Amino acid sequence: MNLSPNSLYIHIPFCDKICPYCDFLKIFKNQSIEDLYIENILKDLKKYINLKYKFKTIYIGGGTPSCLSIDNLTKLLFSCSLILDKDYEFTIECNPESLNEQKLEIFKKFHINRISIGIQSFNKRILNFIDRNYDVDIFRLINIAKRYISNINIDLIYGINDQTLDELKDDLNKFIMLDVTHISIYSLIIEPNTKFYLNKVREQDEDKSREFYDFIIDFLLNHSYEHYEISNFAKNGCYSKHNLTYWKNKEYIGIGAGASGYEKNIRYKNSSSISKYNNGIREREEEIITKDLLYEYYLITNLRLISGFSISEINQIFKFNFLKLKNEAIKKLLKSDLIKIEGDNFACTRDGLALQDFVIRTLI
Ligand SMILES: C[S@@+](CC[C@H](N)C(=O)[O-])C[C@H]1O[C@@H](n2cnc3c(N)ncnc32)[C@H](O)[C@@H]1O
Ligand code: SF4
Repeated sequence: MNLSPNSLYIHIPFCDKICPYCDFLKIFKNQSIEDLYIENILKDLKKYINLKYKFKTIYIGGGTPSCLSIDNLTKLLFSCSLILDKDYEFTIECNPESLNEQKLEIFKKFHINRISIGIQSFNKRILNFIDRNYDVDIFRLINIAKRYISNINIDLIYGINDQTLDELKDDLNKFIMLDVTHISIYSLIIEPNTKFYLNKVREQDEDKSREFYDFIIDFLLNHSYEHYEISNFAKNGCYSKHNLTYWKNKEYIGIGAGASGYEKNIRYKNSSSISKYNNGIREREEEIITKDLLYEYYLITNLRLISGFSISEINQIFKFNFLKLKNEAIKKLLKSDLIKIEGDNFACTRDGLALQDFVIRTLI
């Protein structure tokens, strides 16, 4: 078997509570379903263990991986630890309610070196609205977590329930006080089939969302965080190596129900049926990546990065002269100040990041 991806994503579709805005594949935690699911994940991992395959990045996402039982976490992390390369990044997603010192000890024991914690907001009014009213002292929790793992990401969401700029400022100030390495901050998206969608909850209006986005970028830059992807910021170069795999359009393997992957010239999405997965059925939808699609994905992924892409790299991959071929489109985008070209580098401006779909459509 000739494999090349350096990255592995494992999906854990269990949560203690279902959030009204969430569109990810998840179900209420159920011990027997979870036990069977982990058994199946271990079977899938065995293939790589037997091959002595090694990954540079492993990301366990969800759902809520931190809500797995101690027994299942131990088995899962042990198997993952066998397929880690020497210089690795090993991340697990956690919710504040299910993260505790016992789990942190297990994380450390099995070489997890990055955790991502979904805090969403520090504001009681907002947490109440999104039904995430956990009773956890976040400052205490992060201080304990830091004793075990130094690379910590916090997820925040902005623009919820007419959030004011002062409330956003307050959330960002509290985030700064945590003094962690990374933040992912997204505006609330109302996805079809969610409770919020059915209840007609609205997204923040576009102008306000742009005002908040500008505020967030300036605030975090002023506090020593580097803006490296549309919604992601890091201190001291602690970029998410795993997510950079996606944003640089590199291959990765996806294991578990609903997980996606990209291997050779195929992008795939595993069936979302947890019962099929637990019964050993491995169905997936596939998309064959033609040269045209590869070009689209290259732009969609790389233009999320603040650093964009290298013109010589795109020329080499697609065997064309990008600047010449897309001359008209590029002139138009430069005139509207949506892109910038600096030496060999092609990237979106801040306005371009906010209008990324338009930039990509223009370049296709
Ligand atoms: C799928 S969740 C998994 C992590 C964890 N279960 C949690 O809820 O924190 C990953 C992150 O996606 C973001 N997210 C999920 N749904 C969203 C939505 N509708 N709009 C914006 N961000 C969302 C949240 O910040 C969340 O932390
Ligand atoms: S947002 Fe996180 S905790 Fe909430 S339902 Fe989705 S995956 Fe579960």
